[in-house]
Amino acid sequence: MGAMFHPDGPTFMELVQQALTSTEKGYDLIARKFDRTPFRTPDGMLEGMAKVIAEGGPVGSALDVCCGTGAALGMLRPLCRDRVVGVDFSQGMLDEAGRRLANAPGTARVELLRKNAFALDFDRAFDVVTSVGAFGHVEPKDEAPFLEGIFRALVPGGRFVFVTSEPPRWNTPAFWMAHGFNGVMRARNSVLKPAFIMYYLTFLWPEVRGLLERHGFRVEARRNVLPAPFQRGIVVVATRPV
Ligand SMILES: C[S@@+](CC[C@H](N)C(=O)[O-])C[C@H]1O[C@@H](n2cnc3c(N)ncnc32)[C@H](O)[C@@H]1O
Repeated sequence: MGAMFHPDGPTFMELVQQALTSTEKGYDLIARKFDRTPFRTPDGMLEGMAKVIAEGGPVGSALDVCCGTGAALGMLRPLCRDRVVGVDFSQGMLDEAGRRLANAPGTARVELLRKNAFALDFDRAFDVVTSVGAFGHVEPKDEAPFLEGIFRALVPGGRFVFVTSEPPRWNTPAFWMAHGFNGVMRARNSVLKPAFIMYYLTFLWPEVRGLLERHGFRVEARRNVLPAPFQRGIVVVATRPV
């Protein structure tokens, strides 16, 4: 079977192989082809996020959690004065990010660090934290360490900015595809170790609001700020109170 999404993208068999290893090794395997999959966050979505971030005032430094090949880092760099940091646990993805960001617009220093998103060790270091295309990798048991690490990484008044949506209705193909995929992944993870953690329907609005508030954030939802075809997306701005 040939390439799935793009002539130079991963084949169906390569994606199956990815899902049969582990989350970290799976991304190492497809890193070189990742930008030619629909899993790389699209530029239109990033442009909408950039507008919301810029409206909130000047940014000294920003962190992107689960940065992958650097999609959000390329958007953040021109918005930042000092420093842009990307963390990911796949060295293969970080290497790709390094290559792609070498000539990215902006003057802020770019740092790429290999870290687990559930064990972040930054303290009041960033004005903005983003995470895109990654919440499917956060199981309920990891939500607390994930959000606590992000909260701690922000300066008081700093913002965690991400895109989500409302859950699909039960009578749409998206609903059944997402639940079907999640069922397959749960079955895979109950018989095969190490696990490959990737589930749809995570961090959805409005449930994510309560989750963020329980972790101390003040939460605002921005609608109608993303261009087509992402108009239904919601940009969430979760602020660490001063
Ligand atoms: C679907 S990719 C998204 C990459 C990029 N943010 C984007 O939107 O194009 C998910 C990324 O999350 C990383 N990841 C998953 N779980 C992680 C964890 N626990 N700690 C650090 N990185 C993680 C993977 O290595 C992968 O690079």
